[in-house]
Amino acid sequence: MATALFRTKHLDQILQDAKERSEYGLKRVLGPLDLVTLGIGAIIGAGIFATVGTAAAGDAVRPGAGPALILSFVLTGVACGFAALCYAEMASMVPISGSAYTYAYATLGEIVAWIIGWDLIIEYAVGNVAVAISWAGYFNELLRGFGLEIPVWLRTDIRTALHHPEILAAAPRLLGVPMVANVLAAAIVVAVTVVLVIGIKESARFNAVMVGIKLVTLAIFVGVGFFYVKPDNWSPFLPNGWAGVQAGAAIIFFAYIGFDAVSTAAEETRNPGRDLPIGIIGSLVICTVIYIVTAAVITGMIPSRELNVAEPLSVAMRVVGKPWVASIIAFGSVVAHTAVLLVFQLGQPRIFFSMARDGLLPESFAAVHPRFRTPHVTTIWTGVVVAAFAMFASIDEMVDLTNIGTLFAFVLVCAGVIVLRYREAEAERPFRCPLADWRFPLVPLLGIGSCLYLMLGLPLVTWARFGIWLVVGLTIYLLYSRAHSVLGRHPGV
Ligand code: ALA
Repeated sequence: MATALFRTKHLDQILQDAKERSEYGLKRVLGPLDLVTLGIGAIIGAGIFATVGTAAAGDAVRPGAGPALILSFVLTGVACGFAALCYAEMASMVPISGSAYTYAYATLGEIVAWIIGWDLIIEYAVGNVAVAISWAGYFNELLRGFGLEIPVWLRTDIRTALHHPEILAAAPRLLGVPMVANVLAAAIVVAVTVVLVIGIKESARFNAVMVGIKLVTLAIFVGVGFFYVKPDNWSPFLPNGWAGVQAGAAIIFFAYIGFDAVSTAAEETRNPGRDLPIGIIGSLVICTVIYIVTAAVITGMIPSRELNVAEPLSVAMRVVGKPWVASIIAFGSVVAHTAVLLVFQLGQPRIFFSMARDGLLPESFAAVHPRFRTPHVTTIWTGVVVAAFAMFASIDEMVDLTNIGTLFAFVLVCAGVIVLRYREAEAERPFRCPLADWRFPLVPLLGIGSCLYLMLGLPLVTWARFGIWLVVGLTIYLLYSRAHSVLGRHPGV
């Protein structure tokens, strides 16, 4: 039994399978620039435009980082850097769309692979629930600039509404029950899903335009904001000491998530061995620099305690008397959020697709559309579930859950690099993570340590939710996936 649970797929076999099962073949159309763009598309979104405010100012339950938000970004950027190097080695070695799930199958065994696949649902699908909710808020702000507004009961979740009698009062009633749901958040998820079913190349082009807009938006913010920086706002630099920096880092980790999503496009990449590392590391480095500069400017523009708002970048511009820049930022933010939604909605189905191909999920999940050649079944399922949750969930809880799930996946990927260096020492590695020899795997160990440290900065309730999620996943594995596993049914395959 224990051996069955920890059975691993041989590396050559994984690569061979992907090649042979050509009926599942995805189109190989993406190059290095597409991948860097895809990464930036996934990274810059709700994190820098929204959660950055809570990280700087703090909230009821955590201390804010204050101007030391800059340090939170450095700290998280370094932790992600270690993980990115490990991801890059794995992705170049095992260029299969399942990302960390596939790497775990090759290294740590089937049950760990299942856990990580299950865990990645938190990163991609739950993360997108959070981004969709934040999108709805910004979209409404944008409309407000034009004198329009979506009724509040169509852009609020019911639990938030329960604390706001005025929202309940404004809602229409059906059989006496107030109709409140974030329909706006669900609507954007549906729209993105339609785009993704139609095709990856089209999606990549759409993504590139959006990435251009968000980079210009942040450049405008920094370019204009720079002239309003008052060095007095940077003091005291550490209003809540190191505790504030750690809490801030655990929140803004959300802003970095996404570089790893590049690896899910492995089977649509022309030269994955070379280009996946470029996409993963390139997008992370570019975004880290942008974030640190943005953090320095925003904390210099207004006192950090005033940043605890849903749209901190726009608010900072309004405070310094630049309302037109605030509007440009609201527009750029809506676009940025849309790009994140697009990449994550693209990544999740590809992980399901790989799991279904291995028999751990029903075979229909591996279906590819005959004309569009996209994994349409999983794309549509993901869209439906994310849209449904976006209507009712609260954003803060979704952000924390996304962070813990993603950090856990990073830990397992770093561990996988060490295992594979030991077990498959001779295998071809188009990209080698530096200082990762199994006798002295410094970089993977630093990756594991720094991700665990960030996880410790998250609330206990998040750990509890995460634990429950894993238990549910394990139950499904034991009841369904273990018996249907292709590897289990055909050992040696
Ligand atoms: N990094 C992504 C964002 O900030 C998830 O929205």
